[in-house]
Amino acid sequence: MKKISLIVLSSGRGSNFQALIDWVKNESPPVEIKALITDNPNAQSIQRAKEADIDAEVVSYKEFEKKEKFHQEIFERIEKYEPDLIILAGYMRILRGEELFKRYQNRILNIHPSLLPQFKGSTNAQKDAFEAGLKVSGLTIHYVTENVDGGKIIYQEKVDISGCKDELEVAETILKREHLAYKGVIGRLAHEILKTK
Ligand code: GRF
Repeated sequence: MKKISLIVLSSGRGSNFQALIDWVKNESPPVEIKALITDNPNAQSIQRAKEADIDAEVVSYKEFEKKEKFHQEIFERIEKYEPDLIILAGYMRILRGEELFKRYQNRILNIHPSLLPQFKGSTNAQKDAFEAGLKVSGLTIHYVTENVDGGKIIYQEKVDISGCKDELEVAETILKREHLAYKGVIGRLAHEILKTK
């Protein structure tokens, strides 16, 4: 079976990464996860990669005095795998690099826990939603461009958060839907990409 290849970028817990690992393992979509790339040597996602026998590339942000060098290193690690798609899943850095965006136009995806453009650029959109007293928030999957959280929207889903008692519950409620939504979108894109291969 022909497959598309993915690279996942994650900075921490990596539950979205895990959901993708489980999906590939249990549902055999035409998708292969080639590697995890992280900017954080303590990311829980590294362990998840190891357990799934997936390469884990650690590019520690703190070790780079010149930040351009960090971004260049991330690009080079991605290039090693020549992925069809680059999946941002809780990656807490802004992606940079002219070459990267040129080479991977419409092939970098991010998931954001709000209905963009609401809480665009926020690193805690679930807290923002709770504090704003929203009854409905949601998630957005979009292409990544130089404009943070501003690339073309691929998919949005509303999530009822009216019963949530705090921001953590908001985050958990949205997260469960993120796990389902990301594999759905990647699966659809995989079939489209494979038609062109
Ligand atoms: C998710 O809520 C995602 O939308 C946001 O960061 C969180 C990452 O969670 N960008 P995890 O690391 O995948 O568990």
